[in-house]
Amino acid sequence: MSSLLNSETAAVSIFNAVAQRIPSRIALAGKLLTEHRQSTIHELTVENILHGLRGTPCLLWEISETSPLGIKYHGKTVTELNALLPKWPMSTQISPEAMLWFLYTAEIPTPTQLKHFSNDLISRAELPLDAQTFCDGLSTDIPADTQIIMTLSFLSRYSKFTAAVTKGAHKNDLWKYVLEDALDITARFPMILSRIYANVHGLPHQPWSIDLDLAANYARHIGREHDTDYTEFTRMCWSLYMDHGTSVSAHAMRLVSSAWTDPYLTVASGYIAGTGPLHAKAIGDSVMFNLALISALGPNATKEDIATHVGQHLLGGKIVPGFGHALLRVPDARLVALTNFLETHPSSDPKVDDFLNLIQSINSVVPPLLREKVQGMRNPHPNADALSGSILHAYGVPVDFMLSFFACSRAPGFLVQQVWDRALGLSMERPLSLTMDELLAKAETKTANATTNGVNGHTNGVATANAH
Ligand SMILES: CC(C)(COP(=O)(O)OP(=O)(O)OC[C@H]1O[C@@H](n2cnc3c(N)ncnc32)[C@H](O)[C@@H]1OP(=O)(O)O)[C@@H](O)C(=O)NCCC(=O)NCCS
Repeated sequence: MSSLLNSETAAVSIFNAVAQRIPSRIALAGKLLTEHRQSTIHELTVENILHGLRGTPCLLWEISETSPLGIKYHGKTVTELNALLPKWPMSTQISPEAMLWFLYTAEIPTPTQLKHFSNDLISRAELPLDAQTFCDGLSTDIPADTQIIMTLSFLSRYSKFTAAVTKGAHKNDLWKYVLEDALDITARFPMILSRIYANVHGLPHQPWSIDLDLAANYARHIGREHDTDYTEFTRMCWSLYMDHGTSVSAHAMRLVSSAWTDPYLTVASGYIAGTGPLHAKAIGDSVMFNLALISALGPNATKEDIATHVGQHLLGGKIVPGFGHALLRVPDARLVALTNFLETHPSSDPKVDDFLNLIQSINSVVPPLLREKVQGMRNPHPNADALSGSILHAYGVPVDFMLSFFACSRAPGFLVQQVWDRALGLSMERPLSLTMDELLAKAETKTANATTNGVNGHTNGVATANAH
């Protein structure tokens, strides 16, 4: 807890900033429970239950609100945050560290707070020696995602939260230990990714420098020290992908951590959730889909060729990765940001430009086809995954390392929520389950009651009319 106790750093400490916000948030939770305990805010339908609780506002989230119209972080859109949050010198992208501070505190960090926060993170990045040995001892033919999950799980022995729970710390203090772990993991995750990347590609390990931010340290470690555009792309993605409310990975981590699972294993569980092709694996799958298309049709494929190819794919009852969204019904703000990035950071290599132009062409041909051929698809437009992986591919990042690139952002973003869950003392998630037979019985009872009430109402109406 040195960060909380050192008075010299108290004014700029993230621990202090979170501590200052806690009383007002606890008061708000108290008000909700005292003044509105039994208020109904949503009627649960059979469709909600059969369709993955879609559209059901039932997860309390401290840092963001998701809706079909997009996501807002502490009430602010991505566009607003882009204007408000500080950027590192010589950078035009939001600093991921600033975004993280904002998620924790709902405040824009001062330059001193941001620098102190960044230094604190870098000082936590180095892995303990036994974790380095464990990580470096993993066979390089183990898929990168598996190596990352294994290393995270190994590091769980260093959880300060678990140590505090084991020692019997007061539950009101547990958020501080989650925050300790959260900051360690925020810094260590890109370190683990860089280390595994370096091991797989035979690169030397680099000590992390306090003079560089997380993204620049990561870029240097994977041999891209001088690739400014790649570092900028990293900063942009790590800011934009931090939190996505109730996405499958965030929700998985929320559920797992609600039983006081340590933050390392919680993040490993979220990573595993991300490997589902309907969720974050779609990033790499989209690249593979596009490359297969190019291999079949050549780099100069026309829109008609693309339409025929995608139409045949759909005839096989397959998913087109990178299209559709379980929640959003407006253009994905992250896709807009990725497209803007491409426009402002054009490649000097014409082959890369041609490749990315072809991807944009695919992204414009697919939606009308999906609209025509996939019945009931709610949003046929490309999501961020339709472009993000292809940009990484253009930068030379192997598909194997794409999920982990984005997980470096999603993990710290979720851990903010885990800190706040403990600060607010929220309960373990434990909804009821019911079988389809029970569901049918409940629905039939409800319909029967409604019919009876409807008949009564009608009768009453007639009676009133007669009386009149
Ligand atoms: C994101 C996704 C899981 C949302 O699923 P959803 O909420 O069920 O979406 P919808 O309600 O619009 O789906 C209606 C139908 O369209 C299908 N559909 C949705 N997206 C599709 C796609 N990209 N390609 C083909 N079919 C699709 C669904 O499978 C569903 O078919 P079904 O009725 O036979 O089960 C889905 O769009 C998808 O699989 N997309 C591709 C993977 C992807 O890009 N994931 C990352 C999302 S950020």
